[in-house]
Amino acid sequence: MAGYVVVGTQWGDEGKGKVVDLLGTNVNMVVRFQGGNNAGHTVVVGNEKTILHLLPSGILNRDALCVIGPGVVVNPFVLFQEIETLEAKGLKCDHVRISDRAHLLMPYHVYLDELQEAKAGKNKIGTTKNGIGPCYADKYTRTGIRMCDLRDWDVFCEKLETALAFKNEEIVKIYGGKPFDYEEMKEKFKAVRERIVPMIIDATDKINKALDAGKVVLFEGAQANMLDINYGTYPYVTSSSPTVAGVCEGTGVAYSKLDRTIGVVKAYSTRVGEGPFVTELLNETGESLREKGGEYGATTGRPRRCGWLDLVVVKQAVTINGLTDLALTKTDVLTGYEKLPVCVAYEIDGKTYETIPASLKDYAKAKPVYKVFDGWTEDISGIRNFEDLPENAQKYIRFIEEYTGTDLCLVSVSPERDANIILKELI
Ligand code: GDP
Ligand code: IMO
Ligand code: MG
Repeated sequence: MAGYVVVGTQWGDEGKGKVVDLLGTNVNMVVRFQGGNNAGHTVVVGNEKTILHLLPSGILNRDALCVIGPGVVVNPFVLFQEIETLEAKGLKCDHVRISDRAHLLMPYHVYLDELQEAKAGKNKIGTTKNGIGPCYADKYTRTGIRMCDLRDWDVFCEKLETALAFKNEEIVKIYGGKPFDYEEMKEKFKAVRERIVPMIIDATDKINKALDAGKVVLFEGAQANMLDINYGTYPYVTSSSPTVAGVCEGTGVAYSKLDRTIGVVKAYSTRVGEGPFVTELLNETGESLREKGGEYGATTGRPRRCGWLDLVVVKQAVTINGLTDLALTKTDVLTGYEKLPVCVAYEIDGKTYETIPASLKDYAKAKPVYKVFDGWTEDISGIRNFEDLPENAQKYIRFIEEYTGTDLCLVSVSPERDANIILKELI
């Protein structure tokens, strides 16, 4: 058995795409298990930068089967756009498969996401407006349409007609929006269906058989622990479980088949959208982190909020995910700061906590308790051995292991695939 998992430990955009691409060069299968095209995963090989939204970040390895798992919500129009972009660059995408159980993310989900965010006004979540919440809502109210439904045109049309009747009423009566035309949507899906049906498989069977045969399967998380529907800063979260538990739920693979669980940690913190962020820097330092780190959303282009590393957040991810390894990214971005504060606890109403309160009212009162490290000035992006790092960088990195009680398997020092200090054998 060789099940590997890569998940985010903060608020997303930790560099999961880079780590999955790196590991993906050596695996037989890469599987997305939750989320949808709210994800934006960047892969850099040489001068070529690729941003993936729905396709697994192992896509550059033509020998790895790339599977969009049962727990993913799939906008087929976005999927084909992504495939076309890659194929125009010369990468054939005939190694992509989609689970028959994955839910279709429909045009009305995207529209409802926009309408709901607009109506919420100052209470908006700050979603990516890709229809993720409305699609998962339909899944759980049991009115969704799944990939397997596309195989039988009559079944699909019946489900679409029923869904549209409800959705149009909601769109028009609640939000004053414009209804969708059934015949027009049917035509759009007729074309999509021809292309997508040959890609649909029983992914759960395929993945389990691969693992049972000793193949290496890599599960790629989107979003991150703090955006988890159960353990994140609810309601400022996404609508799925981007955790190791989400792998089991979103693929039908048992936890006993997962050997190694790697959490990606950005060397500082970022967040996109609304919601609490204890170590946020609303000053020049925050702006300089944004500029040096290129912290602009890979999906929406929105500027990311920036702040110091919050190890309370990372530790919670270690616990909830049972992480065996951490992969530290963007360490190079910290070059040039005189002092590097790291949050090791919160102070709330005069008491110290190393856990995250459920109530956002309490969390809003949290003040960071910092342990302050001395910075370094050297460019570290060319370094490949830990001992060659400036001593202060070594201390900063080792403290992350010490605080979380988890070993680092790699330290990434630039976006490029091979720009890493490898600390532990990967695959
Ligand atoms: P993901 O959503 O977790 O896959 O992360 P994103 O791709 O949204 O954002 C991470 C960004 O950081 C991308 O632009 C990566 O190319 C970049 N990146 C990844 N690792 C490093 C690193 O070690 N140093 C620097 N400077 N950039 C990195
Ligand atoms: P990757 O996989 C960062 C955030 C949105 C918003 C909240 C809900 O690239 O790390 P949604 O569209 O999911 O309903 O939005 O979650 N969000 C992300 N932030 N990285 C992501 O993905 C994200 N996917 C969603 O900004 O706050
Ligand atoms: Mg991203």
